[in-house]
Formats: sequence, structure tokens, C-alpha cells
Amino acid sequence: MDWNADLYENKHDFVAEYGRDLLSNVPENPGQAILDLGCGTGTLTHALLEKSTSVVGLDASPEMIGKARQLYPGMDFRVLDACLMPWNNWFDVIFSNAAFHWIPDHGALLKAVSRALKPQGKLICEFGAHRNILRIREAFRPSLERMNLPYKTRFYFPTVEEYRSMLEQAGLRPEVVMDFDRPTPLKDGPYGLRNWARQFFWADLKCLHEKRRVRIFEEMEKALRDELWDGTQWVADYRRIRVIASKQAEGPHRGKGARTCRIR
Ligand code: BEZ
Repeated sequence: MDWNADLYENKHDFVAEYGRDLLSNVPENPGQAILDLGCGTGTLTHALLEKSTSVVGLDASPEMIGKARQLYPGMDFRVLDACLMPWNNWFDVIFSNAAFHWIPDHGALLKAVSRALKPQGKLICEFGAHRNILRIREAFRPSLERMNLPYKTRFYFPTVEEYRSMLEQAGLRPEVVMDFDRPTPLKDGPYGLRNWARQFFWADLKCLHEKRRVRIFEEMEKALRDELWDGTQWVADYRRIRVIASKQAEGPHRGKGARTCRIR
């Protein structure tokens, strides 16, 4: 995925603003080690300094990390694929806002999260739930297909039941797994939806001439006007899944009654 870090920072800063509510679940403890997974331009990584002095921001996008380093010099930001994190028993908290739905393989992701957490460490995250941006996706798909372009689902938006089971398989004990609607106003009045699509559907749009992109935006706007335009702004049909889970002390994949070997 190519990211336009400036467009993200200027027009989609609401992503981090909504994440502030999730931050209130992170305990304050100056000694704890926190990882912000999928940190984008670093707004919440910086805010996490209120919770601890030891905070690392990680993102797979060099553009995003470049912007984060520029905005918050001196903080520890890394360009890394979350599934390939090298840490073992290292973090007390892994925090993530609006990032997990970009990662296709949650088996690999949650294994890496479980490995990187200390025993009893917590995963605190929020991302797109089942049926997230469904109306937007349903309007985008036929516009692309009319141009003979295939629509590829790039996102993972799980149900609560599915995600509980994924967490347990990775050795993470679900404490909170809930989903909810979060209608999200988009900046820039009439241009809000097309700016949003330009940022987040860019992988599908980048091969098109600007004239064809604009045609897609106009078709989407026409299809969605009745449902998502409130008279002054576009309101995206976001749904969230919020997760708090802790790493089981004895680690993943150990069945009931498993024995530990004592060295005498
Ligand atoms: C979101 O739910 O945050 C989201 C999902 C897909 C594209 C952009 C944003």
C-alpha cells in the first residue's frame, strides 16, 4: 500500500482523534514498555508518552514513518512488517488504532503480538469490524467493475466471535471484544468522500487517468448521496471492533492438563 502521509495528516487526522478514547484504556506507568503498532504519522505514539517514557512506534510504510520522525524528532519509530516483529516478551502493552484491518494474516499477526508481549501484557486495539464501510465498498465496486477493473477486498473486518477465537488460538485471553457503529464525518464538505477514497482506495485508483478517477468519485457520490450525505458533510459508515486481551502466563497452544517439566 502506498500512503500519502501529507494527505493523511491534513485531511484524515480524525483517525487519531477517535483513537484518543482508546488511549484511556492504557494504564499509566512510567516504567512500562509500549508499542504503537501501525502508528501512521505518530500522533498517538506521541500521546502515549503521557502513559510511559518508553514508547516505540512501528509502521510498514516508510512514508508514514518519515512523517512521524519529522513531526516528533527524538522518538523511536521503526519501519517494520508487524508480522515479522523481532521482539520476545518485551512489551507490557501493544496498542493499535485503525491499523489491524490493513493486515491480511491475523494468525501471523496475533502470534507475533503474543510473542512480543510479556506474560500478562495487554493488547489494546481498535479497527474495522464486520460490515465496516460496507455502503462505501458497495458503491466503489461497481464503479471499478464498469471500467473492467477487478475489485479486490484488501481489508480484514472480523466479527466479534471470529476474533475471540483468533485471540485464543494465539494465547491471548479476551477481556473485552465488542463491536459498534461509529458514523464518521469526513472533512472538506462536498469533497470529503473523494478525498477519503483517494487516500484509502489509492491502490485501486493509482493506475487510472485522473479523468476516470473523477468519474468513479462522481458515481460513488451519486450512489451514496441519500445514505451518507447529511446536507453539509459526508458521514462514512464506520464500524469498530475494540479488543482488550492479555497474554496468558503459560503461553499459547498449551492444551488443558499440559505438563511442565521441572528441573530439580
Ligand atoms: C477504517 O475503518 O479505519 C478504514 C477502513 C478501510 C479504509 C480506510 C479506513
